[in-house]
Amino acid sequence: EAKAYFSKELLAWYRVQKRDLPWRRSRDPYHIWVSEVMLQQTRVETVKPYFKRFVTLFPTVDALAKAPEEKVLKAWEGLGYYSRARNLQSAAREVSERYGGTVPDTKERFSELKGVGPYTAGAVMSIAFNRREPAVDGNVMRVLSRYFCIEEDVAKGGTRAMMERLQYELIPEGEASDFNQAIMELGALVCTPKSPHCLTCPVMERCAGRLEGKEESLPIKTKA
Ligand code: ADE
Repeated sequence: EAKAYFSKELLAWYRVQKRDLPWRRSRDPYHIWVSEVMLQQTRVETVKPYFKRFVTLFPTVDALAKAPEEKVLKAWEGLGYYSRARNLQSAAREVSERYGGTVPDTKERFSELKGVGPYTAGAVMSIAFNRREPAVDGNVMRVLSRYFCIEEDVAKGGTRAMMERLQYELIPEGEASDFNQAIMELGALVCTPKSPHCLTCPVMERCAGRLEGKEESLPIKTKA
């Protein structure tokens, strides 16, 4: 079956091919959270040194909560979208006050924090706590639209909701952390926006987009 095949082959591929990224060396939910906030509008290669400096300067939620805002913004300099840094510090102050510095481990409570949307919440809950939560970003939408040949407009809210249900179903029991990172990794390394590198893809054999000859024209996006 196409879904079980996808999950199994993708996970096996990820275990061999995954990049050694600084945030993958940590299991600290705060570190995963910092990385996901940085990665939302910034590329992996740019994020690497910023991430390392940031967690050295502010190693815990409490350290970030207590830091002067200008020091936090200084550490963010060059990454852009400074509201991300301000929201992250506000959220850290809230976690420090309400939860004694422990990052909440449910999507419901984590989502109440400043700047935390459905993607960030799903990514942190799945990657750090191995919770079965979808984390749909542009990479995930591209991979799923190609593999399942989904010709719905990915700019529509309903399409995202459908992708979230689909990703949820695909997560193998007890494998949310690796599986969600595996889809992101496939979108980053193989199933890229300009060209799907099908010859190195672990799930090419059953990719409906490719079988239909539509791998280059998916995903369908109306507005930018
Ligand atoms: N993009 C968003 N989250 C990521 C992660 N955890 N690893 C690599 N790329 C990502």
